[in-house]
Amino acid sequence: MPKVHFIGAGPGDPELITVKGARLLGEADLVIYAGSLVDRELVRRYAPTAEVHDSSSLTLEETTGLIAEAMISDWRVVRLHTGDPSIYGAIQEQMAELDRLGIDYAVIPGVTSAFAAAASLKQELTLPEMSQTVILTRMEGRTPVPERESLREIAKTGATLVIYLSVSMIGKVVEELLEGAYALQTPAAVVSRASWPDELIIRGTLADIAGLVTNAGIDRQAVILVGDVLNARTHGLKTTSLLYDKNFSHGCRKGLKG
Ligand SMILES: C[S@@+](CC[C@H](N)C(=O)[O-])C[C@H]1O[C@@H](n2cnc3c(N)ncnc32)[C@H](O)[C@@H]1O
Repeated sequence: MPKVHFIGAGPGDPELITVKGARLLGEADLVIYAGSLVDRELVRRYAPTAEVHDSSSLTLEETTGLIAEAMISDWRVVRLHTGDPSIYGAIQEQMAELDRLGIDYAVIPGVTSAFAAAASLKQELTLPEMSQTVILTRMEGRTPVPERESLREIAKTGATLVIYLSVSMIGKVVEELLEGAYALQTPAAVVSRASWPDELIIRGTLADIAGLVTNAGIDRQAVILVGDVLNARTHGLKTTSLLYDKNFSHGCRKGLKG
């Protein structure tokens, strides 16, 4: 049983952490949490007695040092990340350090903001004959993005997009998307602080979303969703899925037409 767990805290609502993540937090002696995005209240609620450090002011070496020291005392450690740790979580470098030191660990997934935003929008991201692909991506900022994954390239797919870390550059995002398969009338939505009490949803199209978002003063902690699926609630579905079609047979159900 590893003594160190990387845990996804979910997007904000403390009830969106997994049962396993909450249990491990309750058993932890040391919690290092990403204080820039994870609510301190969530940590207090699930780990009331643990020693707690906010990683936003720590370096990789300092975080690893805290974990290594805890191992000497045979402590249980939780490294708590926002959303799901595998998405823009910078956990690979932390795990590499633990590998180097021979410290065993496990990862407990969390609800990433893309899925929290889809839930807030009451929106399925994959719809038959509209899009069967979801791309989680970002605009290049201080972190470079490989050229083949630039928004301009990704825009060629026409898939449903969920764009992280980019709302402050929304004008540029729109410009790049319009170079590809998306058009001014393509629906877009921005969900700021999905699942938090002050969550804000802006809906529009690529023609007006940048202005709407700027006017609302949203410049961080938001995801941008783009794609025709976002029209489904207002314009209706092109077709329904086969899964619940009365004529369609599958492993769990015999359809009317065998
Ligand atoms: C460093 S990334 C971490 C992503 C996180 N690991 C996840 O799975 O959601 C931070 C970005 O995630 C997005 N984000 C995080 N929490 C969010 C929330 N509650 N609502 C909307 N977007 C959020 C924003 O795009 C933000 O800039």
